[in-house]
Amino acid sequence: MAEERAQSKSGLYEFDVVVIGAGPGGYETAIKASQRGLRTAIVEAEHMGGTCLNVGCIPTKALVKTVNLYEDIQKSAEFGIEGVDPGAVKISMVKLQKRKEGIVKTLVGGVGALLKGNKVEIVKGLGSFVDAHTIAVGDRKLTAEHVIIATGSETFMPGFITYEGETKMITSTEALSLDYIPESINIIGGGVIGIEFAYVFAHLGTKVTVIELMEHILPMVDADISKLARKSLEKAGVAFHTGAKVKTVKDKAVIFEKDGKEQSLEAELTLMAVGRSPYTKGLNAEGIGLEFDRKAIKVDGHMRTNIEHIYAIGDVNGSVMLAHTASHEGFVAVANILGEEEIMSYDRIPSCIYMEPEIASIGLTEAQAREKYGEVKVGKFPMMANGKSLIEGEKSGMMKVILDSELGEILGVHLFAVHATDMISEISVAMNLEATAEEVIGSIHPHPTVSEAVGEAFMAAFYGRPINSL
Ligand code: NAI
Repeated sequence: MAEERAQSKSGLYEFDVVVIGAGPGGYETAIKASQRGLRTAIVEAEHMGGTCLNVGCIPTKALVKTVNLYEDIQKSAEFGIEGVDPGAVKISMVKLQKRKEGIVKTLVGGVGALLKGNKVEIVKGLGSFVDAHTIAVGDRKLTAEHVIIATGSETFMPGFITYEGETKMITSTEALSLDYIPESINIIGGGVIGIEFAYVFAHLGTKVTVIELMEHILPMVDADISKLARKSLEKAGVAFHTGAKVKTVKDKAVIFEKDGKEQSLEAELTLMAVGRSPYTKGLNAEGIGLEFDRKAIKVDGHMRTNIEHIYAIGDVNGSVMLAHTASHEGFVAVANILGEEEIMSYDRIPSCIYMEPEIASIGLTEAQAREKYGEVKVGKFPMMANGKSLIEGEKSGMMKVILDSELGEILGVHLFAVHATDMISEISVAMNLEATAEEVIGSIHPHPTVSEAVGEAFMAAFYGRPINSL
């Protein structure tokens, strides 16, 4: 048992592994390390669960749930429910905040209990390298055979945007804690954070404008899906300026350049959502000679930094900033500490965007697949033709599958549908097992489900024809 050992396996240090940062990457990695017999400590300066649990994934989805429920109540007459006066139904931001805080508190408490239950020592305070094997936390000095840095990221405030006067600028952290509904908001950046908040605020009744540099919103998503998402958000009242570069935020106004002309838009609040940057403040990473790639700690495929016994996982290494990527990278790091020589693979990471319908993708977009492979097979299935989706009250959406043109190898799958984020795991398993399209089609999808449409989209791609759509 880890508890009974006073020191690391080598006898030279107090711990086999010290993990710095208890976000979803760090805490899951610490649990894994301890479960695999390594004497492990975790250092956390603020709250267990990091950005994801406290000011990211979890609270955002609590807001999304409330606006989805509100929308369902607004449509209740369509479902045969009488007696609801849609005009009288209101969202209380104060009560919504309370619910959100309750969920966060439960989960944060759960993380502490999980760590303790797995015999990980929790050390509260800011971790700072004294040397490559020693981390100071307040008065205490922890020594470790191996260190895993999992310090996450913070909102990126781009230097190319100038700020003048009294800007009403907030980040996603403040946006999550608003206890009132703003009248209007300008959102800089039409990426994942920008779009999830555009969805929430538009459904709360805020006048939303998104200003995005690229020609498409969600530039990382397949173009067909990004167009459908834009349409759906426009229907909810969101205004878009794409191909628009924000240059200045001045008082309540966002000033941007589009088609060579300068435009200015005022709103009660401005949300900055142009990305996040790796966070290493106070860590003294430079002091011990760790190499950086701009703000990110540089790692190899084993998650190792330039100092062999120090690893960096999650947002801090700047690769793919997603909670599930961070924990997977952490498992790879633990395997490598145990000498198993695992390499992190980034080509099959599912990515989810929470609006309604939901967006979930894995693998290449059609454009990326064509660029890499030339000829590819593409199949699409409209959710209008899926019984369960109609029962759920959702007529819009699409499932899209991209296959290699010869063997039917799965190159990319993109879902825009109700429950899409829960369905993408099927494809993650299929791709991990290197399944072909025929094997996915041959796996029975139950009826009536939204997931039937996955099988149909694969038929559309592989045979050129699905069953339930012409
Ligand atoms: P992002 O990288 O997803 O999007 C930033 C957007 O800002 C891009 O579309 C970019 O073209 C645009 N942009 C950059 N400079 C601009 C300018 N001057 N004017 C106008 N637009 C400009 O970053 P985001 O949305 O801030 O998210 C940060 C990280 O958090 C991402 O890695 C994201 O994947 C992750 N995240 C994941 C979520 C999920 O999995 N559901 C939810 C929220 C965030």
